[in-house]
Amino acid sequence: MSSNQQVLLGSRPSGWVTEANFKIVESPIPRPAEGQILVRNHYLSLDPYMRGRMNDTKSYAAKQELDQVMIGGTVGEVVESKSPKFKAGDLVQGMYGWQQYGCSDGTGVNKIDASRVPMQAYLGVLGMPGVTAWVGLLDICAPKAGETVVVSAASGAVGSVVGQIAKLHGCRAVGIAGGKAKCDYVVKELGLDACVDYKAGRLRDDLKAAVPGGIDCYFENVGGEILDAVLARMNAFSRIAVCGLISQYNATEAYGVKTFQSILTNRIKVQGFIVSDRPELWRKAVPDLIGWVAGGKIKYRESVADGLQNAPKAFIGLLKGENFGKQLVKLV
Ligand SMILES: NC(=O)c1ccc[n+]([C@@H]2O[C@H](COP(=O)([O-])OP(=O)(O)OC[C@H]3O[C@@H](n4cnc5c(N)ncnc54)[C@H](OP(=O)(O)O)[C@@H]3O)[C@@H](O)[C@H]2O)c1
Repeated sequence: MSSNQQVLLGSRPSGWVTEANFKIVESPIPRPAEGQILVRNHYLSLDPYMRGRMNDTKSYAAKQELDQVMIGGTVGEVVESKSPKFKAGDLVQGMYGWQQYGCSDGTGVNKIDASRVPMQAYLGVLGMPGVTAWVGLLDICAPKAGETVVVSAASGAVGSVVGQIAKLHGCRAVGIAGGKAKCDYVVKELGLDACVDYKAGRLRDDLKAAVPGGIDCYFENVGGEILDAVLARMNAFSRIAVCGLISQYNATEAYGVKTFQSILTNRIKVQGFIVSDRPELWRKAVPDLIGWVAGGKIKYRESVADGLQNAPKAFIGLLKGENFGKQLVKLV
């Protein structure tokens, strides 16, 4: 490899993001200065939050700047180290973005152990999405055994972990996902009690049938019509963890929720959260997740795009539901 391929944000989308919003460029491979490391990225994580960063609006995090490397989590190998904290050959997880090589002083870069799980698991089930599932379900919803937990985007990186943790805690777990294949996976592979295919055209009836005792906890990943249908089935004193609203990320007009009154009449506790606000919970969540994955109690699935040049297409696919499990880009 003689140069560093990078994907930059070329322009801000209005409505749906397109491949034309990205620029693919070749740059020289950076040379590490004293105290720095050079990392060859093996996998890039694609995540829905990146869509929000592409907008020029106020949010919980800084916007992605134009003509800069797109933000993103990566795992890879230290190929040159001028830092006493790392040596060549170390496998690391960091935020080097949409590029083949990253160079930094190692701040925010963690060594990873890939002896029991493949390195890319640290971008999914053992990384930010897995911890998000743990925090939203166990800290915010706090379900008790026997309660009914519903999760949307149930076959995805976050949702698949939510449903399985709910089962491990003795709950009745019901997924909502798009299409028969995803719903079959959620029930037959992940072991949830039921899954509603929201694309089948009977969302409200199918959800009603799947939760005969109502819903005690809802892990919200999508918003829109699904949120409306779920709110109508929530029990008194139920809880909602608002993790994401992916149906709205490319919308030019916000969906108006019609069943908001359920929050009052059912005294529902609704809390939005951003996983990075809770660093103290990562220390609890990661060992749990490693134990569950290594013990075969939590399964996961990946969609892997090949090569950085395919990252924009894969990212748009993720926002449209074309991924099936954690969306990654293989760079090596
Ligand atoms: N708060 C936090 O700290 C935090 C951290 C990580 C992720 N998140 C949020 O968690 C959610 C899931 O993220 P993820 O990384 O696990 O992605 P993911 O579920 O692996 O992939 C996204 C999925 O969203 C579903 N989807 C897309 N458009 C939809 C629509 N219009 N209606 C319903 N479902 C739609 C698709 O599944 P179907 O085919 O089933 O529709 C798609 O596969 C996102 O909203 C994300 O922003 C939040």
